[in-house]
Formats: sequence, C-alpha cells, structure tokens
Amino acid sequence: MTPDAGRRLIGKNMNAASMIMRGASPAQTNTGPGMAGGTSALVRLEVLDIAELGWGGPGFFVLRLSQPGWEHPLPGRFLMLRATAGSGEYLCARPFSICRINDDGLVVFFQVRGKATRDFAALKPGDPVDAWGPLGNSLPVDPCRPVLVLAGGVGIAPFVNYVDRHPVPGSISLEFGHRLPLECYPLRYIEGKCSIRTHHEKNDGDRAVFSMLVEERIREFALSGIVLACGPPAFLRLVRELALKYRAEAWLSLETRMACGIGACLGCAVKTLLPAEYFAAPAQILAAPPSEGDREHYVQTCLCGPNFRADRVLL
Ligand SMILES: Cc1cc2nc3c(=O)[nH]c(=O)nc-3n(C[C@H](O)[C@H](O)[C@H](O)COP(=O)(O)OP(=O)(O)OC[C@H]3O[C@@H](n4cnc5c(N)ncnc54)[C@H](O)[C@@H]3O)c2cc1C
Ligand code: FES
Repeated sequence: MTPDAGRRLIGKNMNAASMIMRGASPAQTNTGPGMAGGTSALVRLEVLDIAELGWGGPGFFVLRLSQPGWEHPLPGRFLMLRATAGSGEYLCARPFSICRINDDGLVVFFQVRGKATRDFAALKPGDPVDAWGPLGNSLPVDPCRPVLVLAGGVGIAPFVNYVDRHPVPGSISLEFGHRLPLECYPLRYIEGKCSIRTHHEKNDGDRAVFSMLVEERIREFALSGIVLACGPPAFLRLVRELALKYRAEAWLSLETRMACGIGACLGCAVKTLLPAEYFAAPAQILAAPPSEGDREHYVQTCLCGPNFRADRVLL
C-alpha cells in the first residue's frame, strides 16, 4: 500500500470509529444502489441452539441466536461475533454473513477454521455472545432482473438471506459448487424457493467442468441479468475474469480477513478502481461501473464492501 493510500484509509478510520462510538454504523454512509443504511450497535445475544451439519470432516455449524432487533439486515451484510462475551477480547471477534434473520432469531452458518470458530462450535444454548452489526453494504436486489448466484462452499451463507428477502425468488438461479457432502451446507432453508443446481467437486476434473458451466451461465446472464458470487478467492477471481470477458454486471462478496469490522484496524484493505478524488461518495462511485482514468486505490472491505462490483475490485 502506498503512503498516500494509507493516509486516506486512516482518515476514514477516524470517521468510522467515531460513528460506532455514537452507535451509528459506518454503513450509514453507504446509500447508493445496492447499499444499505441503518444503525448498528454492540449487542449481547443468547445462543438459542447450535447444530452440527454433515458428518466427520471439518465441522460445519448452524448457530441460532436471539433476535438482535436490527433495522436493516439486508442481504449481503455481515456481523462481527465474539463467543467470549464481555471478555474484552476484541480481536477474537470474527466476521460472518447474516445467513438468516427473522422472528425466530439470527442464524450464522460457519465452518471451523481456527481458534474463534472452535470457540463458537463449543457454545451451548443459553450462552451469551457479543455481536455488532449489521455491517457493510448489501447485495443488489432488482425484482425486474434475473439473478445468477454462484456460490462455492461456505460462500453459500449470504445467499440464504438473499433468497429469503428477494421479492421474486423465482428469478434466482443458484449454481452451488461444494467439495464436502451436501448435508454440510444450509441449503434446506432455501430449497424450493429458487432454482438450485449443486455440483459436487471431488477432483480437478469436476472443478474444470464446474468452471465451464460457470462460464456458460455468466455469458447467458450478461445481457440483462445480475451475477452474484461468494466463495474461495480462486473462485472469485474466475468469476471476475469471466464477468469482465462477457461484460456482465457481477458483484463479488469478499471474505477478506477482518479484525474489527468497523474501519479501525486497516486489516481488510482491498485494491479497487476509483477516481483520483473519491472522498465525496465512495459507496455511490463503487456501485457504478468504472470510468476511464480511474486509478488503483485501497479501500477497507468492512466499510466499502464486503460486496464489490467485479469491474471495480482488483483481486
Ligand atoms: C464479510 C465476511 C463474511 C464471512 N462469512 C462467513 C460465514 O458466513 N461463514 C464462515 O464460516 N466464514 C465466514 N467468513 C470467514 C470467517 O470470518 C473466518 O473463517 C473466521 O474469521 C476464521 O476465524 P478463526 O479464528 O476460526 O480462524 P483463524 O485462526 O483466524 O484462521 C484459521 C485458518 O483459516 C484461514 N482463514 C481465516 N479467515 C479466513 C478468511 N476470511 N478467508 C479464508 N481463509 C481464512 C486462515 O488463513 C487460517 O489458515 C466471513 C468473512 C468475512 C470477511
Ligand atoms: S478496518 Fe478493521 S476490519 Fe476493516
């Protein structure tokens, strides 16, 4: 990152940190297309239930928490979650997509990766957790356009809420690539609501077939549809490349590592294309296609994302 980029990010941090102190979300600045407003705050939630999905292998869990009462849990937004409630272990909070949210509570779907997710997997009903959110921007929802959702593995999480909240879920086609058995993923929440095709990738050959299908489908949706994708970095790079090739409007939901989620730590910088001067309205600018003369700038994924247009973000 250049010193100039660093100075810009630090300026934004001060704003974000002071907003959260006042109980307002950094996402309040995100008011352009596909962006969400609303307030966020630190809340203490209760574990209602936790269930392991699948069998053997690395653990996949569905964690249901008490309703946080958030105003704008629009699809694509995320929360920071800390299993050690009230401990002050700030860095042990981790970002997770809002997988489902309704009167029954807030559902987070996660895979055990390291310390924090191991702590989450050990939670029991009645345990307290700390959460702050809803954070970040939302994915675009347009009832008049067909949507192609491309999800890889745990990248399915934000799309459960997306399908739940879309006014015309029948206009959504989901292509889901997964390495582990289907029972490991929370597909049951959206079965029957939209068109779903699953692709079990057991080897390189399966992956190559899935990649060809992804290309075919992006080409198909390029004319009038929207393409949304979430999954491992290599998968997002492929979707980005194909979206640029076929000039499709595509949005990538990034799972960049985050330590604070509110713009205070600089840990989630991602390179984007922006005009030389972009302070006025980065969210609106990021929601529109790039213009000639735009330059590379780092922005924080937690403040300006996690959802980015494929033609604006450089992966
Ligand atoms: C906006 C957003 C939404 C997310 N939504 C979900 C979700 O719904 N479900 C879910 O399971 N995960 C999600 N993630 C990823 C999740 O935050 C990480 O898996 C989690 O922070 C790992 O914490 P840990 O302490 O268990 O692992 P760590 O000890 O921090 O890391 C363990 C291993 O996992 C790798 N790792 C950690 N974080 C990531 C990451 N972001 N991407 C790739 N590899 C990583 C590390 O390199 C390391 O090898 C999301 C991330 C972001 C930014
Ligand atoms: S600045 Fe801390 S996670 Fe984005």
